[in-house]
Amino acid sequence: MKNLLSVTELSREDTIAILDEARELKDALLEREVRKLPTLRGRTVMTLFYENSTRTRVSFETAGKWLSADVINVSAATSSAAKGESLRDTALTLSAIGADLLIVRHPASGAAAQIAGWLAETNARTAVINAGDGMHEHPTQALLDAMTIRDALGGWEGRTVVIVGDILHSRVARSNAWLLTTLGATVVCVAPRTLQPVGLAQWPGQIRVTDDLDAELPHADAVMMLRVQAERMTGGFFPSSREYSVRYGLNAHRAAQLKTDAVVLHPGPMLRGMEIGFAVADAPRSVVLEQVTNGVHVRMALLLRSLVQAEGNK
Ligand code: NCD
Repeated sequence: MKNLLSVTELSREDTIAILDEARELKDALLEREVRKLPTLRGRTVMTLFYENSTRTRVSFETAGKWLSADVINVSAATSSAAKGESLRDTALTLSAIGADLLIVRHPASGAAAQIAGWLAETNARTAVINAGDGMHEHPTQALLDAMTIRDALGGWEGRTVVIVGDILHSRVARSNAWLLTTLGATVVCVAPRTLQPVGLAQWPGQIRVTDDLDAELPHADAVMMLRVQAERMTGGFFPSSREYSVRYGLNAHRAAQLKTDAVVLHPGPMLRGMEIGFAVADAPRSVVLEQVTNGVHVRMALLLRSLVQAEGNK
């Protein structure tokens, strides 16, 4: 069974194969009245979420159901984790019940990889997909963003993607910076100095870092706005949300500096009025809902990769 823990596992060719599969699934399902394929009948997919989520969890569940898998959602808040059960015991229990695939979200960086390690030790045949681990990675989000950028711009080579906001706490920024540079895009990270991670220049992939948003916008082909991750903050990283919004928010006035065909992305949840203006979020150049739709098809392709294609490789 094939895990997906980090985008650094994916070569350019692997990525393109996943995105092409997602595209084929999307085109095939669009024409159908009944959006259901039998491919994963008899397979059990469990989502194990220790953090709140709307899009990622529902998107995985939809992807599994459209492929006819049995999908079971486990939320930490209502599971025995709330009684003090360890992460290891919970994961091994779900595997013993019969999960072929565990989709894991956890506030600790490295949690999905840790679970994959425990499962490997017990020779369990359960695969693991990382659906967001703390401040580390969110590989499925980066894949759906890459698909959306390809749809909008025709490709990644020679394109500039500007990622703006709370880079320090953002797993979305980390996964995107690596994946998009692997695909040939130029990535520029814009954040106040206090939200720029130490050693950002050493991240895999060549990326540039700055705190001057207005200087970057006119050169951007895509702008990815990030939510300020208040739940991961331990101190005051900026004076006030008003000041943050004035300096780093993409309001209509700022968006006017963008090239005519540049697109705006946001992984969601959006805090309108904070990092993104109300009008910008709904403008024709906003591809936020395309990201969400593509997420289902990318995750379908990843379920197939973990559960079906892996078998063929045995
Ligand atoms: C992101 C996450 O949870 O990492 N959302 C998502 O998965 N679409 C970003 C965020 O919470 O701000």
